[in-house]
Amino acid sequence: MASVKKYILAIESSCDDTSAAVLCNTKVLSNVVATQEIHRQYGGVVPELASRAHQQNIVPVVHQALAKANIDKKQLSAIAFTRGPGLMGSLLVGTSFAKSLALGLNIPLIEVNHMEAHILAHFIEDEEMQKPQFPFLAMTISGGHTQIVKVNHYFDMEVLGETLDDAVGEAFDKSAKLMGLPYPGGPLVDKHAREGNPHAYAFPKPKVDGLNFSFSGLKTSILYFLQRETRKNPDFVQQHIDDICASVQHTILEILMDKLVLAAEQTGIKQVAIGGGVAANSGIRARLKEAEETLGWKTYIPKFSYCTDNAGMIGIVGYLKFLEGQFTDQSVAAKARYAIGS
Ligand code: KG4
Ligand code: ZN
Repeated sequence: MASVKKYILAIESSCDDTSAAVLCNTKVLSNVVATQEIHRQYGGVVPELASRAHQQNIVPVVHQALAKANIDKKQLSAIAFTRGPGLMGSLLVGTSFAKSLALGLNIPLIEVNHMEAHILAHFIEDEEMQKPQFPFLAMTISGGHTQIVKVNHYFDMEVLGETLDDAVGEAFDKSAKLMGLPYPGGPLVDKHAREGNPHAYAFPKPKVDGLNFSFSGLKTSILYFLQRETRKNPDFVQQHIDDICASVQHTILEILMDKLVLAAEQTGIKQVAIGGGVAANSGIRARLKEAEETLGWKTYIPKFSYCTDNAGMIGIVGYLKFLEGQFTDQSVAAKARYAIGS
């Protein structure tokens, strides 16, 4: 029997990327992302500017996604959108757009939790990716999130730990800013770290019980360290940028890996998946590969385009919910704080 093709249009607008994707079942036909450059000059995301940019981007981004997929909107089976968590003004743009388009086309509307989408991105059909087996551990690491989640099934997830303050991407970006690197500094820290000595300088690791994380103390200790050293040598940062980046990155990776190892020990699960923008970091990728050898883990890292905020990951959740008949009605409202499984 030939399988029935379902076409899902997905919309993501939770932070500073406006994205639309078209999926045919589990395959991504198009995944268009408009990254808002405006925030660079402010060294971080400015919420008011983000929602304004979403308003400008959303129509062209959706048109482009449909055109690239070569799909007419009349062929769509449903519209999936990010309901939360994220910036309220940003979420509102995607939510209202999705609602009115679904109403106009008279097709079902599907709400998606952005954090679940980062995890379920692993189930996008792609020859470069493998699907994790249930149950698995998922660590979502980005500029907005740091969580370890036990994934029993698509919609049966348990948050085991999360950050109590900054997200890990923020730790990268704020450390980079202290070194005078432009926003977002994470990829630059990674680049310099590859040339430096990870043991050149030691930074303290936070003492947080269980599987939760904390990154704000690290930022403060880097600040004091840089202040102390530049008092002695004003060119300290420029002269030692590779070693500083390598040492900062090493500390951040130790914090992440310690908790991931603990989560694997506590649950007995050796299937480990990561996602989010920080999953692009070459150090974390190397650490996970190493853990396959030393700890017997099977690790999964999605393609970079499915790690950073994108509508493809919203679309896969949309498709999985479509199969289960999990639809949303027109009374749905954006939700800035939206815990997994709630
Ligand atoms: O998932 P994402 O695109 O957006 C959020 O949801 O936040 O993640 C962006 C974050 C930024 O903090 C950025 O600095 C970080 O991911 N990032 C990296 C690397 N590439 C992106 N951090 C460390 N190393 C990288 N190679
Ligand atoms: Zn995200």
